[in-house]
Amino acid sequence: MNVLLTNIRELVQIREFPVKKLSGPDMNDLPTLKNAWLLIQDDRILNFGGMEAAPEGTFDQVIDCSGKTVLPSWCDSHTHIVYAGNREQEFVDRINGLTYQEIAQKGGGILNSAKKLQQTSEEELFEQSAKRLVEVMAMGTGAIEIKSGYGLTTEAELKMLRVAKRLDREYPVTVKTTFLGAHAVPKEFKNNKEGYVDLIIEEMLPAVAEEKLADFVDVFCEDGYFSTEDTDRILSAATRYNLVPKIHVNQFNTIGGVAMGVKHKALTVDHLEVLSDDDIRELQHSGTMAVALPGCSFFLGIPYTPGRTLIDAGVPLVLATDFNPGSSPSGNMNFVLAAACIKMKLSPEEAINAATINAAHAMGLEDTHGSITKGKKANLIITTEIPSYGFLPYYFGNDCIDSVICEGKLL
Ligand code: NIG
Ligand code: FE
Repeated sequence: MNVLLTNIRELVQIREFPVKKLSGPDMNDLPTLKNAWLLIQDDRILNFGGMEAAPEGTFDQVIDCSGKTVLPSWCDSHTHIVYAGNREQEFVDRINGLTYQEIAQKGGGILNSAKKLQQTSEEELFEQSAKRLVEVMAMGTGAIEIKSGYGLTTEAELKMLRVAKRLDREYPVTVKTTFLGAHAVPKEFKNNKEGYVDLIIEEMLPAVAEEKLADFVDVFCEDGYFSTEDTDRILSAATRYNLVPKIHVNQFNTIGGVAMGVKHKALTVDHLEVLSDDDIRELQHSGTMAVALPGCSFFLGIPYTPGRTLIDAGVPLVLATDFNPGSSPSGNMNFVLAAACIKMKLSPEEAINAATINAAHAMGLEDTHGSITKGKKANLIITTEIPSYGFLPYYFGNDCIDSVICEGKLL
């Protein structure tokens, strides 16, 4: 099956060779080709070039992209889209004055989602999650990371990860999975957090590894959740199963989570809404990337990650949605790009790089995703007739996507 895209107004993020990750001024470099064609063979990009030398012959499908811009699909490296029900009531409680932390202390928050998930069958959980996956694919997401963490029992954590794996098999999208057993301390362990960390280490991690259900390991390292010592123990144990850390740190407080992530060679440290100069220095001298989640800042009304400062400090920045029922019930990467430009002062080029090349690397997918490169997955966004790629974040909240190609298939 081959598909030819012709008359592309501008083909964005073209890279002759796959680039691993971008930092500093390189984040502002976005190579493009005007008046271009692109040829897809099955699920891959076969070739691309300028219309003056467009391929001739017969093709299974020809898509005329006159006036339209084509980009590689977004990679969303941080989500919790496998969840049950919703937390609309807590949204209203926050409008009426309660904080996210106050709601959690009253047994709401993550524990509320865990209770719902434990009572939901695996089939029902799959149906609810698949609906969200289809929604985000239509908004241009072509690869996605999905975390567990609303199970909080061995059985329910495995159920979540099995659902995520099934989404990978049944939809033309690449799913990477992360074991986040340390998302909150369950009620049963309220006065025995150590006991829960033991359970994670002795029972959950081996079971997850046995079924090969996760690529990464995560911990919510935060006051009231898991300490740096807990994080240290869990990440140390996870190395036995080759699970690479991608951790939640500095959402509300800076308690040393960044340094702990760096110590364990985390691929990414995520959130970073509250960041000290020491934290930034830690990241500068590490291979760890910073993941900003502006949808969470928007929804909870907390500070935005200092993305501008991080880029200026030479730290490779990634943008993701954090799609989850409590702190960011949206998987719209287009909104995330706009918020990053508007609130974090990223240029459109920086935001696009953070959501494609760097985001692919943040999931270990740099060889197959994140750019228009021969041999990479044919994961493409075809925009409506917009004047330039910078219009995408500028025209925030409006739908600029005409169609989406996932692994060579037009959705
Ligand atoms: O990334 N901060 C921890 N976890 C999620 C939110 C979890 C929830 O409220 O359900 C996050 O924001
Ligand atoms: Fe998260």
